[in-house]
Amino acid sequence: MSDTLYENLARQTLAAINAASSESELEAVRVAALGKKGTVSALLATLGKMSPDERRSAGAAINGLKDDVSNAFESRRFALKQAALAARLTSETIDISLPARDAPFNAGRVHPITQVMDELTEIFADMGFTVAEGPDIESDDYNFTKLNFPPGHPAREMHDTFFLQPDAAGERKLLRTHTSPVQVRTMLGQKPPIRVICPGRTYRCDSDQTHTPMFHQVEGLVIDKSANMGHLKWILEEFCKAFFEVPSVNMRFRPSFFPFTEPSMEVDIQCRRDGHDIRFGEGSDWLEILGCGMVHANVLRNCGLDPDEVQGFAWGMGIDRIAMLKYGMADLRPFFEADVRWLNHYGFRPLDFPTLAGGLSG
Ligand code: DAH
Repeated sequence: MSDTLYENLARQTLAAINAASSESELEAVRVAALGKKGTVSALLATLGKMSPDERRSAGAAINGLKDDVSNAFESRRFALKQAALAARLTSETIDISLPARDAPFNAGRVHPITQVMDELTEIFADMGFTVAEGPDIESDDYNFTKLNFPPGHPAREMHDTFFLQPDAAGERKLLRTHTSPVQVRTMLGQKPPIRVICPGRTYRCDSDQTHTPMFHQVEGLVIDKSANMGHLKWILEEFCKAFFEVPSVNMRFRPSFFPFTEPSMEVDIQCRRDGHDIRFGEGSDWLEILGCGMVHANVLRNCGLDPDEVQGFAWGMGIDRIAMLKYGMADLRPFFEADVRWLNHYGFRPLDFPTLAGGLSG
């Protein structure tokens, strides 16, 4: 074979190598030249049949050709790899500045009532209170009688009670009109010292902008040997500061009446209204937020406690009311209409748990 033949083969193979536009095309070219049946391999195979003289001159040329082709192949493969990588890098970019897609756990919202219950539980837990619960369907005895509402007392009428049909034994159960029956259950069920809060649903036949037939209260109860009104006042002030996230609050304790406390008080919190805004700890308005008092001796006795041995105080606060105040809702009714748009607007992110250290309302 002549040198020109080698040169032609070299030129053709190198041209094919350069023309290959992908690694797979290049591999086909390599097999056609350097594979078992490839053109360059076939040329190498001819060396065995040559005379030593022929081999000396042709061998160098053929091996040189093989080296050239191999080198060209390697450098083309490297170039194609680089090009493929560069193409991937431009086409597979991730825009890390895009907002994260909403994960399902992030899409739901925590209802403001749940949020406020979590907040107040956090605050009272920090003061050593545990959470007590009772049923929504309550006996007349626990909702009224043991709480020192005598039968026929007008205070019963003021509760707009929902009564159930009398059962087989003639007992007429009711939907609890306040969380105070949980006081009774707690005193009957555990020994003093007692320090509980009882958040939950309550029911009264009433409906307007600030009243719904189902609403929420949180009851507080402290019973021990010496619990007094000073403690009550401190607890309520600390609660209001922590809950409304303000450094100071002014509170006004007005004499009032509840059958289950003596003395009884209603508590107002000082505020300033500014259009829709409301600020606490300043201004000349007063807003009623709860009822409280020293637990009546009759109630202690009705619950198996001796008023000469123990004493204590209690309070009841409307959760919906303080939620509206803190988060600026004017109407209570949408709280319970399950409108997703309202929930998206007023709800809270599920993983933003209220903590005293990390911030209650995020
Ligand atoms: N149960 C009362 C109500 O629903 C609120 C209340 C007032 C609860 C005084 C108390 C209390 O524990 O001491 O109107």
